[in-house]
Amino acid sequence: MEKKYKRTLVTTALPYANGPVHIGHLAGVYVPADIYTRFLRLRGEDVVMIGGSDEHGVPITIRARKEGVTPQDVVDRYHNLIKDSFEELGISFDIYSRTTSDIHSETASEFFRHIYEKNGFVEKPSMQLYDPEAERFVADRYVVGECPVCHAQGAYGDQCEKCGSSLNATELINPRCAETGATPVLKETRHWYLPLENYQEALEKWILEGHKEWKTNVYGQCKSWLDLGLQPRAVTRDLDWGIPVPVEGAEGKVLYVWFDAPIGYISNTKELLPDTWEKYWKDPESRIINFIGKDNIVFHCIIFPAMLMAYGDGFQLPDNVPSNEFLNLEGDKISTSRNWAVWLHEYLRDFPGKQDVLRYVLTANAPETKDNDFTWRDFQTRNNSELVAILGNFVNRAVVLTHKYFQGVVPPAGDFQPVDTQAFDDIRAAEKSLTESLETFHFREALRQAMEIARIGNRYLQETEPWKVIKTDSERAGAILNVALQICGNLAVAFEPFLPFMAAKLRTMLSLGELSWQSLGSTGLVPAGTQLGEPVLLFEKIEDDAIQGQLDRLEATKKQNLVDSWKPEPQQPDVPFEDFMKMDIRVGTVLECERVPKADKLLKFLIDDGMEKRTIVSGIAKYYQPEDLVGKQVCFVANFAPRKLKGVLSQGMILSAMNPDGSLVVISPSAEVKPGAQVK
Ligand code: MF3
Ligand code: ZN
Repeated sequence: MEKKYKRTLVTTALPYANGPVHIGHLAGVYVPADIYTRFLRLRGEDVVMIGGSDEHGVPITIRARKEGVTPQDVVDRYHNLIKDSFEELGISFDIYSRTTSDIHSETASEFFRHIYEKNGFVEKPSMQLYDPEAERFVADRYVVGECPVCHAQGAYGDQCEKCGSSLNATELINPRCAETGATPVLKETRHWYLPLENYQEALEKWILEGHKEWKTNVYGQCKSWLDLGLQPRAVTRDLDWGIPVPVEGAEGKVLYVWFDAPIGYISNTKELLPDTWEKYWKDPESRIINFIGKDNIVFHCIIFPAMLMAYGDGFQLPDNVPSNEFLNLEGDKISTSRNWAVWLHEYLRDFPGKQDVLRYVLTANAPETKDNDFTWRDFQTRNNSELVAILGNFVNRAVVLTHKYFQGVVPPAGDFQPVDTQAFDDIRAAEKSLTESLETFHFREALRQAMEIARIGNRYLQETEPWKVIKTDSERAGAILNVALQICGNLAVAFEPFLPFMAAKLRTMLSLGELSWQSLGSTGLVPAGTQLGEPVLLFEKIEDDAIQGQLDRLEATKKQNLVDSWKPEPQQPDVPFEDFMKMDIRVGTVLECERVPKADKLLKFLIDDGMEKRTIVSGIAKYYQPEDLVGKQVCFVANFAPRKLKGVLSQGMILSAMNPDGSLVVISPSAEVKPGAQVK
């Protein structure tokens, strides 16, 4: 339900500090949240944008053990990398903090204790999975197995990434310990549970009746959860990395990461605004918006709200939880462990000064309603034929012509002619739907409308042709450029949420001061008489070799992954000795080797086999230059029934073996052997 509000708290899912952030994170959460926040700021609204690193939980400890360092080392490294790269991309957090901060552990501990003292938890013994090799309890991502819901392999102990179901580790079919590979055993432990079922009714009322306007993916996931009936949820864990459970008798236990992390939104607001944070959370006239990815829906719509209800004390629930689907990369699922990603810090290194290009492409292609694909070719095309050819080109023409004809001084507006009025009418129409789309979190559509203003500008110059008019009527040519520059001014406002670096350059070129969203549609943004700044290019063409470099890197990653995941084929069933003896494998020397005409896979060998010479055709032309094989010794099956290949009779088969990366080698004896000798 749209509500009247005085201020907005925008939160962004706290990324795990177990690796750098990639384009999937950006497209799903941070770019849309930043667009929205910048939009509200331009409108002059009271808004704060909260971010931070999620530094507890199993993903961190797994990474630390893998690298042989402490969890603190891991989070220190990635927190700083993530924070710096967000800043460089222009993600305008009011605070980007971390869940290992003191203020956070105090806040999270107090949150737990408060619910505990209200008897809001149920404490009970349970049988939990235990890794007999590592001698510790395992849960969440420490356990993998088959999903009991969709039967996908590789589901985690807390969630199946395939179907999105939230799971308990004990529900997995054929569970295995993620680290040791051991089969876990059941062992008794005690934990505190949040009885979610007590909040079922309130959550149903709040979401199913109260928030029908939420995106269908979010509403749908909530509904299926609620329809299944909520169950108690353990909020403590037997682990040594995390916030200690702050009550007696809880030695060796920490808060479940999904209990502490969302409280991070509160801690970070407190850290930013020690005196006024409460009004953002507790004043009914405040609005909370959580930007998240689709794998976070249940935690933000069911579990955290239940925690807030359990705590009470006036905490508000979120008004909206805009959640995107996933972004793929070149047709494959983005994966940190397979290094299949475009990492933000690497992008910033490889494309310096091109922050806005990435922001643009990720928004134009945002996975708002379904999974979407990022490709480097699309990235190049959108830069070259949209940002350069439409937006950059229009602004450049308007500013350069003003410098050329009027020494860069904005000429006076004339009486509007129909073509001028039409241009402003079109712009106001685009701006209306731009604003509506932003208000309703439809950022792709919003960006399309912003781009429409640049298209209107280009059409306007095309129709009015000031470069011709100047020859006969310099006053009218000046009036045309005045309109064109007003359109530029509108672009500086409309694009500020999306492309802040471009907008800043444009503002300097137009000598504009502070902008406000309310000035959109104005015909007087750049007053006559203003001295324009020097024209600078807003975007540059991206050449093929830059794109090829990225594609080559991905290709190399793919190869590496094949090598890393390669396993020998399972062994064939046993064969009796006599069967083996039927195979007549021999050594021969290659006398001649050449390509078979019109058959790009085939090589034709002439082999000295110790008796006569024989011809063998082999499908290995992709792997060898024929001349490199001449003089080599090879092993071949001599009694392979002769057969014709592309008109050549082949008398045998040359033996070879293939590497995981797809390269192939022929099998040669390790020292010179008399041609015709048998291999046994
Ligand atoms: N770290 C989690 C993830 O990457 C998100 C945590 S969001 C928070 O999936 F609300 F818990 F902070
Ligand atoms: Zn599943």
